[in-house]
Amino acid sequence: MTKQMKRSDINRIIRESEAFMRSHGYVLPPFSRMTPNDMKVRKQELGNITGSGLGWDITDFGLGDFQKTGLFLFTTRNGHIEDLKQGRGMLYAEKAMISRKDQLTPMHKHVFKTEDIINRGGGTLVLELFGDTDGHCDRDRGTTVACDGLLRNLRPGEKLKLAAGESVTLKPGDWHGFWAEGGDVFVAEVSTVNDDNTDNYFEDPAISRFSGIEEDEAPVHLLVSDYGAWLR
Ligand SMILES: [Fe+2]
Repeated sequence: MTKQMKRSDINRIIRESEAFMRSHGYVLPPFSRMTPNDMKVRKQELGNITGSGLGWDITDFGLGDFQKTGLFLFTTRNGHIEDLKQGRGMLYAEKAMISRKDQLTPMHKHVFKTEDIINRGGGTLVLELFGDTDGHCDRDRGTTVACDGLLRNLRPGEKLKLAAGESVTLKPGDWHGFWAEGGDVFVAEVSTVNDDNTDNYFEDPAISRFSGIEEDEAPVHLLVSDYGAWLR
């Protein structure tokens, strides 16, 4: 069974992350400050927020050690899959993320989403990249990515290091894992519409995108993965 994160740890990570982003001059949108009760009371009005999966998102990838394997995310905007199919409308999404020093986001790919991963400040963001063969991560295969517009051919597993201000465009099928070196990194993701419930494929099948939660104190804010159970 998936190991659980404690709600008290999630609350602490929310507070630390908010302070870290503010230290980089980044302020989250107003809905980030709503309490669980605010969200329950305004449930009908918030359909576009909850339906698009906007908000707080903290995961240890089901492995039970956030510091070692985990990621902080806040989805600020996310379009509609139907628009993507039609080729017009809200086709885009944006997230603020924090990759902590030596904290791994494990090897995964997306089938639909193209994403730019941007180092907005802090330490160095290191990505390990592989190509895809028949849907699987091929550790003998490299890939070619665009870094701020310039193409780079990467050997299998070559480490791509992004300093503050640098970014990479990852296309569907580009297998990628990442972590921060030298300090925590404030990361941005600009992407096509994304569905985190269906479009994350991990190399290790034991890994899950969302964590289970042990409710040892009341939540400061709901996570995206809480909406289903808490806002029924
Ligand atoms: Fe990704």
